[in-house]
Amino acid sequence: TLLSTTAAFAQAYPERQITMVVPFSAGGPTDTVGRLIAERMSADLGQQIIVENVGGAGGTLGAGQVAGAEADGYTILLHHIGMATSPTLYRNLAFNPLEAFEYVGLVTEVPMTIVARKDLEPTDFPGLVAYVKENADTITMANAGIGAASHLCGMLFMQALDAPIVTVPYKGTGPAMTELLGGQIDLMCDQTTNTTEQIKGGTIKAYAVTTPARLAVFPDLPTVSEGGMPGMEVSVWHGLYAPKGTPADVVERLSASLQSALADPGIAEKLGELGTAPSPAADATPAGLKAKLEAEIARWKPVIETAGVYAD
Ligand code: MLT
Repeated sequence: TLLSTTAAFAQAYPERQITMVVPFSAGGPTDTVGRLIAERMSADLGQQIIVENVGGAGGTLGAGQVAGAEADGYTILLHHIGMATSPTLYRNLAFNPLEAFEYVGLVTEVPMTIVARKDLEPTDFPGLVAYVKENADTITMANAGIGAASHLCGMLFMQALDAPIVTVPYKGTGPAMTELLGGQIDLMCDQTTNTTEQIKGGTIKAYAVTTPARLAVFPDLPTVSEGGMPGMEVSVWHGLYAPKGTPADVVERLSASLQSALADPGIAEKLGELGTAPSPAADATPAGLKAKLEAEIARWKPVIETAGVYAD
């Protein structure tokens, strides 16, 4: 019968390697979170989860690939806030984020930092604001494509400044960081999972954090609000998804595995060093992620419409 077939399937799952699509470049912030939980979930599931980086178009390429993948539990997606901004930003998005996936759970919520190449002149955030206004036509800002967190943060920054800046898109902020380190690009707003080590090492300059309160890892770094730019608070929540139609017991197994990974003190410690923390157990659930996605689509829609930024 159908019931016993489903039960047998779930009992056997996973029988082989699972692919976790990360819709940005290797070595970047989403990749860092993905590899961290993939390793711990692999141990729990008894099968290897391998990360496949499918960068491009602000994460919509990789998400679209998973939306169209076999719904058998062997392809999953780690994506972030871009899942919520893409339906408003992209006029011709190939999938509907609210209908194309099963929700596994929320993973983490990552603060962002406004950073620059280490020899950029300004020494504090108000100084940076004045400098960018004066040099808006020559200064360059990196992002990971329309729909990326770095794009959203850059958009809020430009809106607050009332000055458009030249933006340079990459397939992820991993490669953008390489160019920032090399001085080929001036500015970036990026997640602490990608900037913390560089800020601490003094290889880039940090001006502000995008959270309402200062971070324990950077007690001296002011918030955007303290720096005179209230209203540009943004945190990059990450969620784990499977293609729509993935059997319910498989989704449950994945969700339980995610929860056990996030409860691992080693994961909390590593995320803590990077300025963040695992999502609470109650949110690392299908219901927790669904509620977050719905709320965030509603939250960002008017902001994006005011900015008037769209992609095809
Ligand atoms: C990445 O992994 O490259 C980032 O999450 C990109 C971004 O959204 O800014």
